[in-house]
Amino acid sequence: MTDLATAWTKLETAAQDARDRCIEGLFAAEPARLDELVVEAPELLVDLSKQPWSLADLTLALDLARAGGVEAARERQLAGEAVNPAEDRAALHAALRAPFGSDYRAKGEPVSAEVDATRRAIAELAQAVRSGVRRGATGLSFSAIVHIGIGGSDFGPRLVWEALRPLSPQIELRFAANVDPADIAFTLDGLDPARTLVVVVSKTFTTQETIANAEVARGWLRAALGPAGDSHLLAVSAAPEVAKAFGVPADQIFGFRDWVGGRYSVWSAVGLSCALALGADVFEEFLAGAHDMDRHFRDTPLERNAPVLLALAHIFNRNGLGRPMRAVVPYAQRLHLLPNFLQQQEMESNGKRADIHGRPVARSTAAAVFGDAGTNVQHAFFQLMHQGTDIIPLDIIAVAEASEGDPANQAKLLANAIAQAEALMVGKPEAVVREELKTQGMAPADIDVLAPQKTFPGNRPSSFILMHRLTPAALGALIALYEHKTFVEGVLWGINSFDQWGVELGKTLASRILDELEGGQPGAHDPSTAALVALLKRR
Ligand code: F6P
Repeated sequence: MTDLATAWTKLETAAQDARDRCIEGLFAAEPARLDELVVEAPELLVDLSKQPWSLADLTLALDLARAGGVEAARERQLAGEAVNPAEDRAALHAALRAPFGSDYRAKGEPVSAEVDATRRAIAELAQAVRSGVRRGATGLSFSAIVHIGIGGSDFGPRLVWEALRPLSPQIELRFAANVDPADIAFTLDGLDPARTLVVVVSKTFTTQETIANAEVARGWLRAALGPAGDSHLLAVSAAPEVAKAFGVPADQIFGFRDWVGGRYSVWSAVGLSCALALGADVFEEFLAGAHDMDRHFRDTPLERNAPVLLALAHIFNRNGLGRPMRAVVPYAQRLHLLPNFLQQQEMESNGKRADIHGRPVARSTAAAVFGDAGTNVQHAFFQLMHQGTDIIPLDIIAVAEASEGDPANQAKLLANAIAQAEALMVGKPEAVVREELKTQGMAPADIDVLAPQKTFPGNRPSSFILMHRLTPAALGALIALYEHKTFVEGVLWGINSFDQWGVELGKTLASRILDELEGGQPGAHDPSTAALVALLKRR
């Protein structure tokens, strides 16, 4: 087998030929292109044929995956080994969505029985709340849930709720994440405390924003209901004793373990508010979809393995062609939060500059991810996607069949999704533009000025991910697809995808500055920071 350094060199060298390659031309040159580059995964079809790689490049990329030990790393992760060595932890989110009665182990310790028990407890509470058996302090049934959390304790549940909320008209779910006081104020506004459950979600239960918002919400409950307001407060944490110290009664705390990374935690009790608002059946279906993707990832040979191929396409763009950004555009309004979710998923996981052994990484790691729902973004950043000076690879996610609304609008939405991918790839050559302008009777001098501006260079890559319907299972499969993609990339870059030291420094400085703003001694700062602190203290 090729060694890793050679595999990288071969792929990166081959990629240079892809710089000026006509992607569309590859379809004629490679009759097997669609067969090789369109793969079926659970709930999803993944089309990577509009990427700039040739089938020969694909072979080199697969060689890289093998040389980089993707298969062994996949085994290690699913076997619960400490794939997060900096924190000596497993990353076993797959255990959270496995069928009941499975036997997963984190660093040798059996975990499935505890996972199953938590899932059952969630289902029981969801059933009790939704049926009105469990009522509030004044005897009224619950009509709203407020989910308080941030980062991995927020993005996943928020995405799930936005995507699936038509399935539950019965209970409203609202979120508060930002420590900006406007966020929690807006979230609580108009809700009846007597009919609201507050779910505070924090792996550590020490996150400044979450605790600050939890204090406001608890005050809001107590102001209306007295001490009984605390019975409306639930906590989800991997540090239940800290949640207890905060004042949440022990029987209102749902736990999860340290082998669940924050940005991989939506499958755990972190999804409690979704289960309460959508029903446990919906939540279980969501887990089952993700489990199907886990099985696909675990059992499918690399050449048909959707997360592996998605990762390799990204690596081809990122490392082979030096592209530092990636756009994600779901053509589904209900998935408009997917890009936000993936920002943390990919950039917190793989935004690293030191490898797993503490050495500088050999090559660029995660790209900056951005995006929002199509077609809206066609009226925002697609000008740059088509004609800007940078080439930004794009993931398009589309849903074949609408679950709600006018089917005629859905057809328009799909037409736009497909058309954008086509337009990005085929472009519109200057000769065609010139001919059009000539036919319109434009003077040659004017054509010289306008034609370059109206030309589309094309050869701008995209991946197309299609689901039949936006069901809970399809959503679970989609999120798990991206989780595994991120993992594969991290393996090939030699980094730890499961820690996030880069968020620490800002937190430490913020707590020092807060102390100063609240009257503490001025600290040592650079002149710009000191001037800003002084300015705000004077106000
Ligand atoms: O952004 C940093 C981070 O540590 C994330 O990794 C995490 O998802 C988030 O903060 C929230 O942390 P917690 O769940 O402990 O409140």
